[in-house]
Amino acid sequence: MKPSKSHNNHIFICTGKDCQKNGCDQLKSDLKKNVKVHKIKNVSLVKTKCMDYCKLGPNLVVNGELLHDCQSEDIPEILQKLENRHP
Ligand code: FES
Repeated sequence: MKPSKSHNNHIFICTGKDCQKNGCDQLKSDLKKNVKVHKIKNVSLVKTKCMDYCKLGPNLVVNGELLHDCQSEDIPEILQKLENRHP
């Protein structure tokens, strides 16, 4: 077994039905733009199926941390988690 060296930061975003109703597509798009604008390297942004927290969405997992009710206004805080972990 070998750890991946291709990406240091991993964001998984639920795109299940309920998270879609709560705006995950807009959040994903805004996250992607912000990662680019802030030139944060080695970020993988991956869509997932339902994470079983449907009532709490949109749900993200950011470098192993599960986050509920994520909105676009939370993006600076989300990016901070990436930058803090891999400055
Ligand atoms: S639809 Fe996102 S957690 Fe179920």
